[in-house]
Amino acid sequence: MKSLLVLLSYHHNNTEKIANVFAKVLHAQIITPHQIDHEELQEYNLLGFGSGIYSAKHHESLLDLADKLPTVTNKKAFIFSTCGVPMKLMERDKSEFTKYVDKNHSSLREKLQSKGYTIIDEFSCPGFNTNSFLKLIGGINKGRPNAEDLKHAEEFAQNLKQNLQDNKR
Ligand SMILES: Cc1cc2nc3c(=O)[nH]c(=O)nc-3n(C[C@H](O)[C@H](O)[C@H](O)COP(=O)(O)O)c2cc1C
Repeated sequence: MKSLLVLLSYHHNNTEKIANVFAKVLHAQIITPHQIDHEELQEYNLLGFGSGIYSAKHHESLLDLADKLPTVTNKKAFIFSTCGVPMKLMERDKSEFTKYVDKNHSSLREKLQSKGYTIIDEFSCPGFNTNSFLKLIGGINKGRPNAEDLKHAEEFAQNLKQNLQDNKR
C-alpha cells in the first residue's frame, strides 16, 4: 500500500503534528499542494488531504488543488483537519463536534468526490487558535493537539491501514 499526504499547515503547525503521526503509521510522504505531480498520483493507493480550518473550510490551496485534480476511478482518500473552535463548548456534546467537522470538511469532500475519489474516513481535532482577536486573550485550545489527540490520530491511521489490508484480501 502506497500512501501520500497532501498538507497545508501554517498557523501553528497544528495539522502538521497530526500529519506526522499519520505519515509514521502509513509510511507516507508528506507534500504541500504545490508540490503535487499529477502523473505520480497514479502510483498511490491512498491519498490524505489535510489542513487547518480557515473560514469554515480547508485551506484554499487544497481546494484549488482538488479543482485541478484529474478524474480518477475508485481511488481511496481521506480528509483531515485541525480546527480552532473552543473545545470547552464542544466537549460537552461530542455530536456537536462531529457536526461541526462535517460542515468544515464539506467543500473539500464534495470536490474530491466529484473527481471520483472515495472518502473512506475523516479526522479532526482541536488546534491552538490565536486568529484575530483571540491573540489578545492568549488564544484558545492551548496545547492542542495534545498527547490524547495524537493518540487518536494514531488509532485512526492504524484503523485505515487495517481496513485497507482487509479489503485487499
Ligand atoms: C485566518 C484563520 C481563520 C480561521 N478560521 C477558523 C474557522 O472558521 N473555524 C475554526 O474552527 N477555526 C478557524 N481557525 C483556527 C484554525 O483552524 C486552527 O488554529 C488550526 O489548528 C490551524 O491549523 P494549522 O496550525 O495547521 O495551520 C482559523 C485560523 C486562522 C489563522
